[in-house]
Amino acid sequence: ADLWLIVPAAGIGQRMNAECPKQYLKINNRFILDITLSRLLDNAPFKGCMVPLNPKDHWWPESESARDDRVQTCTGGKERADSVLSALVALEGQAADNDWVLVHDAARPCVHSEDLSRLIETLSEHPVGGLLAAPVADTLKLAEAGSLPVVSETIDRSRLWRALTPQMFRFGALKQALSLCLERGQAITDESSAMEFSGNMPVLVEGRPDNLKITVPSDLALAEFILGRQ
Ligand code: CTP
Ligand code: MG
Repeated sequence: ADLWLIVPAAGIGQRMNAECPKQYLKINNRFILDITLSRLLDNAPFKGCMVPLNPKDHWWPESESARDDRVQTCTGGKERADSVLSALVALEGQAADNDWVLVHDAARPCVHSEDLSRLIETLSEHPVGGLLAAPVADTLKLAEAGSLPVVSETIDRSRLWRALTPQMFRFGALKQALSLCLERGQAITDESSAMEFSGNMPVLVEGRPDNLKITVPSDLALAEFILGRQ
């Protein structure tokens, strides 16, 4: 089975509150999106790569990736899931149902090549697929609403994981799962949720906890530090 890559980059980065979408902020003078794409494309044998972009995006032509012939683009959608589905549809005719597709957030430039390789190796013979994830380190409290929230319970964290990306599933199954969720109005924030909703049990492949998704302004300095240390 061939490997395909989808890097959703159609978001506007509302929580980052910057003058441009966060994937076009620079670290070490490169777009975050370019760092993310090159780390993935240079470290696994992808057959092709699709990047869904916002219809109002006017930064893409300035990116290194725009001149990379491994990279194709399409128009993204309202939510992340819409963007990923539009990329899957754009790859139809190139990819086979049994091929693997890895979906990775444009806003996660710190993904490590060892994690990428381990994800692919661990899942290559698996029927469903899975995702990089990290065990939860904090003590977790379940809140009860009130004038001040109060703790109703401390949750056993031994079975809890944080979902990271890449997430790796079969092309046909993922397209079907995402279509079903969107059709049913089932809100989902990652590919694994869509696969779970369709009755599958994705594999959790332990990844480095520093594979952070740049979300708020303070994450930028953190990502620069992590990239500098790797
Ligand atoms: N994304 C996308 N299409 C959307 C929304 C998000 O392709 N309609 C992408 C983002 O560009 C990002 C990834 O999905 O690379 C993860 O989403 P998130 O971190 O939430 O990014 P934004 O939606 O841009 O940020 P915010 O939620 O703060 O607006
Ligand atoms: Mg978002």
